[in-house]
Amino acid sequence: MTLTDLLKEKQVKFMLLGGKGGVGKTSCSAATAIWAAEHGLKTLIISTDPAHSLSDSFDQQIGSEIKKIKGVKNLYGLELDPHKSFEEYREKMEQDDLPEKTQSLLQGLGGLTGMTPPGADEALAFAKVLEYIENPEYDLVIFDTAPTGHTLRLLSLPDVLSGWVMNLLKIREFFGKFAGLFKRLISRGGEVERGMEVLEHLKNTIDVARIELSDPESTAFVIVMIAEAMAVFETERLLSALNEYEIPCDHIIVNMVYPEILDCAFCRSRRNMQLENLKEIREIYDDFNITEVPLFDVEIRGVEKLKELSKILFGEA
Ligand SMILES: Nc1ncnc2c1ncn2[C@@H]1O[C@H](COP(=O)(O)OP(=O)(O)O)[C@@H](O)[C@H]1O
Ligand SMILES: [Mg+2]
Repeated sequence: MTLTDLLKEKQVKFMLLGGKGGVGKTSCSAATAIWAAEHGLKTLIISTDPAHSLSDSFDQQIGSEIKKIKGVKNLYGLELDPHKSFEEYREKMEQDDLPEKTQSLLQGLGGLTGMTPPGADEALAFAKVLEYIENPEYDLVIFDTAPTGHTLRLLSLPDVLSGWVMNLLKIREFFGKFAGLFKRLISRGGEVERGMEVLEHLKNTIDVARIELSDPESTAFVIVMIAEAMAVFETERLLSALNEYEIPCDHIIVNMVYPEILDCAFCRSRRNMQLENLKEIREIYDDFNITEVPLFDVEIRGVEKLKELSKILFGEA
């Protein structure tokens, strides 16, 4: 199944592109998003890399609010800001009139379950990602992810979060048996209930997302790599983690393949080295769909250049 089939026939709802830093994840995500949008899918592209480069790639400002991408109809972009999400979440809790006491209770219980504030930041940012997963407004959501290590942490968060929320719910249940005592401790019981509602909602969101992300009918993870030996090791690491989280993946983009330039000995040598690696990659991943993308002679920046890349990715070049 080619990338075209993935979007046209299978009509996956979520596509995640991941791999090592600098291999072309953002460029390929952006080009894929453009192709999808131009083929009638209302598409949202979200960057989960704290070092955002969607704005650079599209050559227009995107930022932490959903923005229409200029020059492509049907396409919207968002650069997720983990810190802002945490702030927003806190604000939401405050707006919901969650009293300080409940919030500090939640924080205290979080401490009990070993959830440190930096982890909470990322976890809540992920909760934000989950909101988009639940959002039926878009036909396709493309995630331009951060380099492997960070993305793996992000993907493990449903488990972390889910365990965290479950513990809180259990503690609530436990205290429920001593309702009188608990109420006296907290003094205003209703506030606790409200906090628990938020948590239960979060737990549901996580469960839905986990099901969606591990369903090959709705999700595809595409690995972006370059034709070098080191990249094969990284790909192995990524694949085994995806396997562990049950995230379906059978597509690889091998980017930046040296074109044939006969009168350049240096280029020929690099190209031959890459062709060797490519052969090996094709052998190792013989049940994967592999798309080769040549090294461009210029940076891939702006909608027009990205469209060129999308033609290659979707076999229209
Ligand atoms: N096939 C290619 N040919 C030439 N330059 C490329 C190609 N793919 C990506 N680039 C350039 O490489 C740099 C890194 O690409 P990017 O998509 O930001 O990688 P990542 O998101 O994996 O860090 C960018 O400047 C981009 O324009
Ligand atoms: Mg990137």
